[in-house]
Amino acid sequence: MAETTMDTRTATAARAEDLHRAYGRGAATVHALRGVSVALAPGTFTAVMGPSGSGKTTLLHCLAGMDRPTRGTVRWGDTDVTRLPERKLAELRRTRVGFVFQAFNLMPAMTVAQNVELPGRLSGTRPDRARVLEALARVGLAGRERHRPGQLSGGQQQRVAIARALVSRPRVLFADEPTGALDRATGHEILALLREGVDREGQTCAMVTHDPVAAGYADRVLLLADGLVVDELDRPTASEVAARLGRLGG
Ligand SMILES: Nc1ncnc2c1ncn2[C@@H]1O[C@H](COP(=O)(O)OP(=O)(O)OP(=O)(O)O)[C@@H](O)[C@H]1O
Ligand SMILES: [Mg+2]
Repeated sequence: MAETTMDTRTATAARAEDLHRAYGRGAATVHALRGVSVALAPGTFTAVMGPSGSGKTTLLHCLAGMDRPTRGTVRWGDTDVTRLPERKLAELRRTRVGFVFQAFNLMPAMTVAQNVELPGRLSGTRPDRARVLEALARVGLAGRERHRPGQLSGGQQQRVAIARALVSRPRVLFADEPTGALDRATGHEILALLREGVDREGQTCAMVTHDPVAAGYADRVLLLADGLVVDELDRPTASEVAARLGRLGG
């Protein structure tokens, strides 16, 4: 068996070591991350929480290769992402990670299927129709491929965004407040979908949320404050999460 195959049980899907991220210069410098180390084990679901401005989005962007840390490293498996030149990183990002945003970020003039195909098209690969349909079926949207985002509910639009993130079969799915724009019931559907991806497909997922109930879907909660991981909870319940958050003053 090849070494890389044997490693997959113990290796992390993504790992950050001593991550620092500063924005701006001189007196105006903002230290968004001040030394964060995080490991995402394959097939696990991690929630990232903390007060506004604590660095959650910055951490997710750095882990997903969408932002570069000022110091420290990000690894996807054995690959040190922080050392890759921009083009190589962009190429790897399209196949290794998926990203879901609070505001869905769909193209309104394109059909559902075209939205899901878009990342592939941008990387110059021919859209694989079967994969697109498979991704849409997986999020419960079979038969809706010719509709436009405006013809779908908010929850359905977020499902399209999840299908778009999953179509390249990424090792890690990142989601930044994926239920933030949805009502409670619709939010639960999305969270159940993320949970199912982890349980049935072995997907690795990291999600930012402000909602203790949403965090209850995760295997683990990381609490950030002022650019540092200050607490960690395994098998969190919503009430435990709310209590810890209360102590942070978030
Ligand atoms: N591009 C940027 N330029 C300057 N400062 C930035 C930039 N991005 C983030 N910051 C700053 O870094 C800090 C962390 O921001 P970040 O967006 O990671 O917080 P967050 O925890 O996601 O907050 P929220 O819960 O409000 O989304 C904040 O003080 C923010 O103003
Ligand atoms: Mg944020």
